[in-house]
Amino acid sequence: MLCPSRVFPLLLIIVFFIMIGVLLKPNVDLAPGWKDLSSHANLADYKVKTHKGYVSMEELNENVFQKFGYEIIRPTYPVPTLKMTHEPTCDNVFSEWKRIFKLPQPDIPVDTIPADRLEEFTLYNYTALGSFYKNDKNSKEGERPRNWDKLSELIKMPRQQLGGLAYGKDGVSMFDAMQAHRLDNMSGVVIGSMQPWVEVSALRSGVSKVLTVEYNNLTIQEEFKNRMSAILPIDFVTNWHQYAGKFDFAASFSSIEHSGLGRYGDPMDPIGDIREMLKIKCVLKPGGLLFIGFPLGTDAIQFNAHRIYGSIRLAMMMYGFEWIDTFSGDSEQPNDLTSERLHAAPLFGLVQNTLVLRKI
Ligand SMILES: *[C@@H]1O[C@H](CO)[C@@H](O)[C@H](O)[C@H]1NC(C)=O
Ligand SMILES: *[C@@H]1O[C@H](CO)[C@@H](O)[C@H](O)[C@H]1NC(C)=O
Ligand SMILES: *[C@@H]1O[C@H](CO)[C@@H](O)[C@H](O)[C@H]1NC(C)=O
Repeated sequence: MLCPSRVFPLLLIIVFFIMIGVLLKPNVDLAPGWKDLSSHANLADYKVKTHKGYVSMEELNENVFQKFGYEIIRPTYPVPTLKMTHEPTCDNVFSEWKRIFKLPQPDIPVDTIPADRLEEFTLYNYTALGSFYKNDKNSKEGERPRNWDKLSELIKMPRQQLGGLAYGKDGVSMFDAMQAHRLDNMSGVVIGSMQPWVEVSALRSGVSKVLTVEYNNLTIQEEFKNRMSAILPIDFVTNWHQYAGKFDFAASFSSIEHSGLGRYGDPMDPIGDIREMLKIKCVLKPGGLLFIGFPLGTDAIQFNAHRIYGSIRLAMMMYGFEWIDTFSGDSEQPNDLTSERLHAAPLFGLVQNTLVLRKI
């Protein structure tokens, strides 16, 4: 039998190890319905779907994530949870963006990825590459800003009609997400908007102020100028200190998947979309919400039209955020983004949902 004088130190040691375990547990929550396969996992045992078939998380860690400066910290499924090994400071994020933005650009967007950047763009071949060429640089036919003078009509539109203005059912997911996560009296920023339906969805959720960052000049209807304003991306970046950690929420739908592909006359940048996520993170308050929609499917680039986000690129995009909910537009309620749902469409097929993320 153990005598009490021996049991006590033993208990202390046990308590010590339990506390170490609690302290070392990564501070990342899972989205409802997501499976955390194991916190002591052998990454070779867990596979996600790619255009090459099922690939282990160990292989992705070595061949993709580490090359981009990330590492898997939890084998969550269908999107592994990553940490960035050397997260850039906000100063770096904005100054790098500005440097790249000022590089000289071709008159006509290129139709093939430059050979020396191919591996970065295709995630070292783990992203499928297809072609779908669009030239929207200074295009007259392309979409132009619309309905900024009709805000008083938009503000009264029913859910389906407002959400459906630009993207049909997919756009309704933004309206639903902002109703489920009310934004009463909050202030936020919207990235990239041809039509003000995201902004109006935010106003309908109780928002008091919304700033739109957009390449086109917008003329906002007079009665809304107390609640809405707009700024060009270059001015937003130049004055970023003014916005650092300031917004309660940010929103963007069908915009950042284009960043860095050159289609809109923007500079070629393999991680243009990831830079946008880091910029948004810098201007959100801790705990601030991000409502974001971009194409979901199996990882692919249809050059130069857009990227499609699957298990690999989604993992990198989500860094620094906790995934709270996913809305599809099919129902006002959120759904679980299972592997089946993520890969429901064939390769190069896509669906745009609104993901609700919280800045960690
Ligand atoms: C990617 O694929 C190309 C040809 O499709 C090949 O030349 C290249 O070596 C591959 N790169 C990697 C890292 O596998
Ligand atoms: C929003 O602000 C108004 C005026 O300050 C206040 O009356 C109202 O209760 C606030 N609403 C919420 C949900 O906080
Ligand atoms: C926006 O307005 C400014 C100043 O009026 C002008 O220089 C610029 O070309 C305009 N940009 C677009 C995209 O129309």
